Amino acid sequence: MTGIGDSLRDKMLKIKHVVKIPQTGYNRGACLETIERKNAMSTVLITGANRGIGLEFARQYSAAGWQVIATCRRPQEGGALETLPVEIRPLDMTDIESFPAFAAGLKGRPMDLLLNNAGLYGLEERQSLGRVDVAEWQRVMMVDVFAPLKLVENLIDNLALSERPVVGNLSSKMGSMADNTSGGIYLYRSAKAALNAVSKSLAVDLRARGILVVALHPGWVKTDMGGPNALIPVDVSVTGLRRVIAGLTPADSGRFLAFDGHDVVRGGRASPHAPLDSFSPS
Ligand SMILES: NC(=O)c1ccc[n+]([C@@H]2O[C@H](COP(=O)([O-])OP(=O)(O)OC[C@H]3O[C@@H](n4cnc5c(N)ncnc54)[C@H](OP(=O)(O)O)[C@@H]3O)[C@@H](O)[C@H]2O)c1
Repeated sequence: MTGIGDSLRDKMLKIKHVVKIPQTGYNRGACLETIERKNAMSTVLITGANRGIGLEFARQYSAAGWQVIATCRRPQEGGALETLPVEIRPLDMTDIESFPAFAAGLKGRPMDLLLNNAGLYGLEERQSLGRVDVAEWQRVMMVDVFAPLKLVENLIDNLALSERPVVGNLSSKMGSMADNTSGGIYLYRSAKAALNAVSKSLAVDLRARGILVVALHPGWVKTDMGGPNALIPVDVSVTGLRRVIAGLTPADSGRFLAFDGHDVVRGGRASPHAPLDSFSPS
């Protein structure tokens, strides 16, 4: 039913967006430093921050003056993360039961950006037709799909305390139906496709709370997962992703964007503003 209540609620939502998301300063064309100066002392939580893309996110956001909550499975093992001015917290993405206690430890703290970065590719030899291993598949789905959603569920109140909350789910082009011309890789492809579906539903469900949600493709990046033949240096990928995140507007919520700002669903040919739900399986 539409009525005064609904139109008032619509107006309130519009006002909320006007107040929470200033149109100037977040324009796509604005330089990253200008954009992020507005975010000084913003807080980002990064999962899987001990190596690869997660570590580079921690390095770049801390250098840009953000408060970084860097999570990893084994903080005691130290490594490069320990050299950064970040807050390190243990978080194993296979231990979903621990998430309420983890969130309780952050109660009342505004969270401007949640990066569900931790990811698992799964064993190569268990991903091909005839060799698919269901136990391995469940392990991949746990880290790449179930845990990111459950972490968002547990941290919604923190996100809602932010002026401009964003959830970035590190997905992959491998999760795109349109991009899949070589087949195989059942575990990883299906996990990232599912993460894209989760990202889209979250975008819809959290719109009323002003929380933007996007799926992000980092490119083929030189990390342990990407391997030595990968094309993109990790600092280039993360700088690009930061720029994409900084430029997001409410209209972008639900989209699947690459580190260079292009829409993954329609490739380079299409508008970078194509919505994720415009995707149709081929
Ligand atoms: N590299 C690429 O070319 C590429 C391309 C597309 C998408 N991506 C996505 O980008 C994200 C980061 O990739 P990456 O290249 O940096 O991968 P990576 O080098 O393999 O690092 C993976 C990270 O995830 C963490 N992780 C794995 N399982 C975990 C668990 N159960 N609990 C907590 N953390 C866990 C790892 O921690 P441990 O050290 O404890 O294992 C590590 O910090 C992933 O989601 C990946 O799927 C990467």
